Amino acid sequence: MIEFVSKECIDTQKEYMKNVRLKNEGTKKTAVVVTYGCAQNETDSDKLYAMLFQMGYEKGDDEKNADLVIYNTCSVRENAEVKVYGKVGTLKAKKKKNPDMVIGVCGCLMQQPHASERIKKTFPFVDMVFGTHVIHEFPKMLHHVLTERERVFSVDSVDGVIAEGVPVVYDKWYKASIPIMYGCNNFCTYCVVPYTRGRERSRKSEDILKEIHTLCEKGLKEVTLLGQNVNSYGKDLQDDLDFPDLLSAICEIDQIQRVRFVTSHPKDLTDKLIAVMGNNKKICNSLHLPFQAGNNRVLKEMNRRYTREDYLTLVSKIRAAVPDIALTSDVIVGFPGETEEEFYDTLSLIREVRFDNLFTFIYSPRKDTKAALMEDPRTYEEKLKNFNELLEVQTEICREANEAYLNNTYEIIDEGLSKNNSEMRQGRTTTNKVINYKARADVKEGDFVTVKVTEVMSWSLVGVQEC
Ligand code: SAH
Ligand code: SF4
Ligand code: F3S
Repeated sequence: MIEFVSKECIDTQKEYMKNVRLKNEGTKKTAVVVTYGCAQNETDSDKLYAMLFQMGYEKGDDEKNADLVIYNTCSVRENAEVKVYGKVGTLKAKKKKNPDMVIGVCGCLMQQPHASERIKKTFPFVDMVFGTHVIHEFPKMLHHVLTERERVFSVDSVDGVIAEGVPVVYDKWYKASIPIMYGCNNFCTYCVVPYTRGRERSRKSEDILKEIHTLCEKGLKEVTLLGQNVNSYGKDLQDDLDFPDLLSAICEIDQIQRVRFVTSHPKDLTDKLIAVMGNNKKICNSLHLPFQAGNNRVLKEMNRRYTREDYLTLVSKIRAAVPDIALTSDVIVGFPGETEEEFYDTLSLIREVRFDNLFTFIYSPRKDTKAALMEDPRTYEEKLKNFNELLEVQTEICREANEAYLNNTYEIIDEGLSKNNSEMRQGRTTTNKVINYKARADVKEGDFVTVKVTEVMSWSLVGVQEC
């Protein structure tokens, strides 16, 4: 059952925001939110920033000098967890010098009791610890810290909550990522997300469409729909749209030129969705479809609920419907009990599908998950050897996939100056490839530009503006 947070509750938060703003009046206060993890955390941080701006804070550029610092954590792999403890520890001396500094830790990791307890006990200078379910109550928590000078902890798993009406900042006017659902019901045995983000819950389509229409008034052209498993959107709603129908409704908005979505689970990628993708030019020609492993025994142990053959059939169907689609995926090497022979099934799947890009991970045991209790006889070094083998194969495939772009022209949306060469600009094709290109002087961020590809690298393309 989804519980929508009441308008009154959101209005109460507005009162807290007003009070904090009054308290900050006449002083210049800076805030830094450091974000780890995926796009879900990024959008939560965009909400935190929006609330902070309304409370009189400005965005600072260095967490060491800010008046308020929040670490928005991820717990999907161990290194994300370890990094946070180190980062929080470095603020101890800063807080000693400036006792008015406010330090918060929030996000997925704080939904795991072992981690929130550790922050609470070992870092007594942390003022606020809160989980993913109570982001909308941030003003109330901050108000309490500032007025009572007391630490605040709010890490309960309040399952099934959706809060509409929370302010959010959008980085760019021409493209935006919009969450359409939260949580995950799949319980892949290696994954902590269902424990940190709770059960699947979908936003009402009218709220999603309203948000997109509002952004269109500011010039929005490209929208990315977000969720841990976007194609199960709407299953928990009554009398509302399913995911393919939501996509179609968004494509009907005149001003929207490009629609993307992440992430799709293979078991929920229906023929209806494939048909909508094939029939609608505004839906971008790229699909992120994690396969995780190429061996059926391993897939079963992972609780992925499809076979290698199912996955390959899906890929053929998608390529038949959208011939020039760019496929990307996630893969895990070294799941507990995976033998070297089983790893080679993963490698052969990669060679067979030829993904445009792959996000590769070595298995990392996570507390609370089933896989963490499974026997795991292979050493890290053995897994690393396979991992490097996989990377080598994939780098070659990426390069070959990119070579098909050479000397062809593509329409991109310009995204500003190139990150690695200030003489160039960059933008993305509908297949989500980054092209660094030489532009004419009059190109502005957000413009559609036609670019000819003149050089190809493994991870990006280089080009010149055609017209
Ligand atoms: N909801 C998305 C992605 C979730 S997390 C999906 O199902 O596709 C992003 C990726 O992290 C996963 O696809 C998986 O490849 C990887 N991952 C998750 N848990 C992991 C773990 N314990 N060890 C290593 N990689 C992991
Ligand atoms: Fe994790 Fe699986 Fe859910 Fe993705 S679908 S978030 S991998 S449990
Ligand atoms: Fe990490 Fe949470 Fe995303 S665990 S990957 S930030 S949903």
